[in-house]
Amino acid sequence: MIKYLRVHNIYLVGFMGVGKSSVGAALAARLGHRFIDLDERLGERFGASIPEVFSVHGEGVFRAAETDELIRCANERDVVVATGGGAFCDEANREIISESKGVSVYLDLPWEELDRRLVADNRGRPVYDDAEQACSLFEKRRPEYLRADVVIALEGSETPDDVADHVLRVLREVAPCAI
Ligand code: S3P
Repeated sequence: MIKYLRVHNIYLVGFMGVGKSSVGAALAARLGHRFIDLDERLGERFGASIPEVFSVHGEGVFRAAETDELIRCANERDVVVATGGGAFCDEANREIISESKGVSVYLDLPWEELDRRLVADNRGRPVYDDAEQACSLFEKRRPEYLRADVVIALEGSETPDDVADHVLRVLREVAPCAI
């Protein structure tokens, strides 16, 4: 199905800590596309860090701005977008991606590896309280992530370059028009 569409942008989706930003930058470099980090755009928009946006404005304001920035990305061409961990869990956001001929790529890491990474560095992420809460959030969200056009199963030992190469190999198979 994806094969026959003209795909404009690639959206990396998945849970916090999976490496969407570093893989997105590596993928964009390989394709000669521009890289957009959605959280970075949101930080610039508010002139604040993401934890500050949550604490000053609240999650509702953050999510509305996230959707708005996603629409801006959808109006651009030939970009690789690293989304925040909650973006793809919203149906309207998924529609923005698919209706703008974007291909969504889920980076799927086992919980044990995500947990290890988040315990080591959760960067004050506002939706991370502790391992137990994050695990149930991951279990709740994973079925939504699995709605992505492409699912890349990872172990955790791969470098961002390895993952970018893996994504490219799969896209060449299923969506050659994306690359
Ligand atoms: C969020 C993940 C964060 C950021 C915000 C909300 C989430 O992005 O968008 O803190 O709901 O999972 P990362 O996935 O890049 O950490």
